Amino acid sequence: MIILKSDEEIKKIALASKIVAEVLRLLEEMIRPGVTTKDVELYVEKIIRERNGVPAFKGYRGYPSSLCTSINQEVVHGIPSKKRVLREGDIISIDVGVVYKGFIGDAARTYPVGKVSEATRRLLQVAEDSLYKGIEKAWPSNRVSDISHAIQSYVEKNGYSVVRTFVGHGVGRALHEDPQVPNYGLPNKGPRLRRGMVLAIEPMVNAGTCDVTIMNDGWTAVTNDGMPSAHFEHTIVVTDDRPQILTKL
Ligand code: MF3
Ligand code: CO
Repeated sequence: MIILKSDEEIKKIALASKIVAEVLRLLEEMIRPGVTTKDVELYVEKIIRERNGVPAFKGYRGYPSSLCTSINQEVVHGIPSKKRVLREGDIISIDVGVVYKGFIGDAARTYPVGKVSEATRRLLQVAEDSLYKGIEKAWPSNRVSDISHAIQSYVEKNGYSVVRTFVGHGVGRALHEDPQVPNYGLPNKGPRLRRGMVLAIEPMVNAGTCDVTIMNDGWTAVTNDGMPSAHFEHTIVVTDDRPQILTKL
């Protein structure tokens, strides 16, 4: 069942999303060689608390942290640790969810650590652009899979693959609501998009194979071929015309 949101509810999701956007913006300065993913966690928790938000991920299905930090071949759901030190040339995907006044905003971005290779820069660019290709399809009376298809076509045209194991989702009072928003599929399938639908669209783009494995910690997803992966996510709302991106400053 898809929960359509009222304008009042959308305002609250927008406030939660604004905190998420600020976190991701502030991390641009913080992400550099020598920093541990635990340092990132402490910094993010401080920013969220200062803005009277609550981390949305901590305790979700037993997830132990306020954010996900996934390095290089890690796709999503990497757990922050003081043993994981960022090095020049790495990429790190950071996924953050915030609850504010009972509503959630959810977004992710992949950051380069120091100077990265040309190939890596291109992976990040294509992954980010694929998110916008998907968002562009979030108009009323389009269908969910129009988003999916736009993302997959763009990614594959550029020689990369999209992860199938994890999908985007509706978001509101709960982190994961209907509908699921896959990053692959044929167009014109699934529910019709309506004004008031709030969606977290989140392509995970792999340089090599789309297949992933969950590590022994029960969370961290890694690419099966060890090649890098990038993840970009925004919370958006379907309006009467163009989609509005809530997790953008
Ligand atoms: N953006 C991710 C998602 O929507 C982050 C969830 S991490 C979890 O699934 F730990 F909360 F599951
Ligand atoms: Co999400």
